[in-house]
Amino acid sequence: MDNRVYIFDTTLRDGEQVPGCQLNTIEKIEVAKALEALGVDVIEAGFPVSSPGDFISVVELSKAIQQPVICALTRAVEKDIDVAAEALQYAKRKRIHTGIGTSFYHIKYKLNSNEDEIVERAVRAVRYAKKYVEDVEFYAEDAGRTDNQYLARVVEAVIKAGATVVNIPDTTGYCLPYDYGEKIKFLMENVKDIDKAVISTHCHNDLGMATANSISGVINGARQVETTINGIGERAGNTSLEEVAMIIKSHSGLDLETGIDSRKIFSTSRLVSSLMNMPVQPNKAIVGRNAFAHSSGIHQDGVLKNRENYEIIDPKDVGVSQSSIVLTARSGRAALKHRLSLLGFKPSKAELDKIYPKFLIMADKNKNIKDEDLQTLMGGNGSEEKRIQLVSLQVVCGSNTIPSATVKVRYNDEMFTESASGNGPVDAAFTAIKQILKRKVRLEEFLIQAITQGSDDVGKVHIQVENRGKLYYGFSAHTDIITASVEAYLDAISKFV
Ligand code: KIV
Ligand code: ZN
Repeated sequence: MDNRVYIFDTTLRDGEQVPGCQLNTIEKIEVAKALEALGVDVIEAGFPVSSPGDFISVVELSKAIQQPVICALTRAVEKDIDVAAEALQYAKRKRIHTGIGTSFYHIKYKLNSNEDEIVERAVRAVRYAKKYVEDVEFYAEDAGRTDNQYLARVVEAVIKAGATVVNIPDTTGYCLPYDYGEKIKFLMENVKDIDKAVISTHCHNDLGMATANSISGVINGARQVETTINGIGERAGNTSLEEVAMIIKSHSGLDLETGIDSRKIFSTSRLVSSLMNMPVQPNKAIVGRNAFAHSSGIHQDGVLKNRENYEIIDPKDVGVSQSSIVLTARSGRAALKHRLSLLGFKPSKAELDKIYPKFLIMADKNKNIKDEDLQTLMGGNGSEEKRIQLVSLQVVCGSNTIPSATVKVRYNDEMFTESASGNGPVDAAFTAIKQILKRKVRLEEFLIQAITQGSDDVGKVHIQVENRGKLYYGFSAHTDIITASVEAYLDAISKFV
């Protein structure tokens, strides 16, 4: 069996269905181009009959994308298929993705039908789509809860009707990895002419098993995996592209490969997160902020001796410049010495022994140790101040106003005041600060979190900025989220000015 696994990305269809994640056509093209550069094989561009916006997006993506197949979703309904074919007219390589529910629940309660009629409707839809395109994918919705014998009957019928790809969705995220793998194996062994189609996995993450199920499917013969960037999608999301790609890359024993250029994973993740306003959870595998951050003393010591002691992936392989050592009260001398050396300090063993207990007291108090805390520790008198500090901030914003901000900072012991406008008060304040600094600062990550979700809550802001190819991290917390954002921004900037 061929060892190439095709990556079918549905960030712009299943992912984009998530409330609050909607993109306009220009943004969709930006994401699609990033997916093309990442090396995905198929881009599911939308569900054209669902809205004029979706229709136009499929048309424009078809024009903009050269290499990946552009796929449009339909129900097993002729009108849907007509509209999808029209939307795909400019695609260099095109696919119609049609299907119908096959589980007991869908047949009885959603479609008010019976098994024989569903097979007929499935076959009719595939034949109808074949009038327009050669490449037709069929999905058996809720295949995860569909009886295997009946599923085999449906799959055999649609392959006979001309389906080139058959998708076996675990629509409700119910399957166990073992059962999902057995399902694919059953189809591989019991469906006549199964080798005439590619079997595809499409797993949802309701029980946190989407990636495990997809990999189990591949081990048992599936050769296409349907994924989204950052695992976004309906409810708890879909299988995440970065996890599947890195599992296949890291486990050479699987003897499988994808066309993904893994070094573009992190930038694609951040692009999708920012355009869709969907923060990546800090502990998300592969792309979370903490995915390569080590905070316990034993791990830090191990990583500093040899990265592979505690890292199975080289962060550079996914486009992250380096692992990070986060100093906390659980950090050991090795981590402290390492971080001090990055700041230019070379303490002797005796000096390190002397400052380490002070460091622990400071870490207990401050939780997260910043570079300026270490500078204080290494000889400051405890009253050292940041080189750039917020003195005052005034913003004007509202529904009918152009947002603007006036920022006053103390920078190198001088006072500077600048005003700027922006597409929001935070953007305006950041622009004013950049005018003061006269430097290029690129915002890489900006995350605001409420702690208790009350309107009187403290907002925590994490920021990452890039300056001359290096990343700097800033943090602040305040009941005023604009002040917290500006302080976090200055916190990051103060590490390189
Ligand atoms: O989860 C699902 O079953 C789907 C189909 C429309 C492919 O998204
Ligand atoms: Zn889905």
